[in-house]
Amino acid sequence: MKIFLDTANIEQIREAAALGCVDGVTTNPTLISRESGKFEDIIREICEIVQGPVSAEVVSTDAAGMVEEAKKLAAIHECVVIKIPMIKEGVNALRQLKELGIPTNCTLVFSSNQALLAAKAGATYVSPFIGRLDDAGHVGMDLVRETLAIYENYGFDTEVIVASVRSPLHAVEAAVEGAHVITLPYGVFEKMFKHPFTDKGLAAFLADWEKVKGR
Ligand code: E4P
Repeated sequence: MKIFLDTANIEQIREAAALGCVDGVTTNPTLISRESGKFEDIIREICEIVQGPVSAEVVSTDAAGMVEEAKKLAAIHECVVIKIPMIKEGVNALRQLKELGIPTNCTLVFSSNQALLAAKAGATYVSPFIGRLDDAGHVGMDLVRETLAIYENYGFDTEVIVASVRSPLHAVEAAVEGAHVITLPYGVFEKMFKHPFTDKGLAAFLADWEKVKGR
């Protein structure tokens, strides 16, 4: 499973990328609004760090506007993937961008019908928002399972990015389901490294080594 980071914070991305576990990054207007600097500059810097797919979201709500924005964003760096919202105009834009050879990530996906339509329109990635579904009393991971089954049934090559992730358990479940990608908030990424037994075990080994050292 590929791991993307769901942040626009350069320090977090730099630190995680140095560990060799990060394959890409997803951003959205909210994440960009938390950082300082120009949108284009942030995206360029992230691309240079990760050298993998970096999602940058359009803000137009009509297909022509989305395609125009997409062309400009795609010119920033070859790693840019255009994030398109799952609305009718967005599906039209997905189809046009597929024809132009510009990779896309269909975002704000909350049903398997939406995921099916995004794949038919040629989306490179689709992002089911599982945490927001969980928050509303649904089982977000059911959407991931259904989407993967639908894509498998019909041979779609659209990759599923498990998005709106809230906990390390989401990462385990996504991997067990065989999702292509998970995009992680930095806090969840950090938690995935941790286990109390690892810390306890390491402390005991180091303490015992102190006894050996003086020999
Ligand atoms: C996905 O690409 C989105 O940026 C993100 O996962 C949304 O997550 P949120 O529900 O925590 O805002």
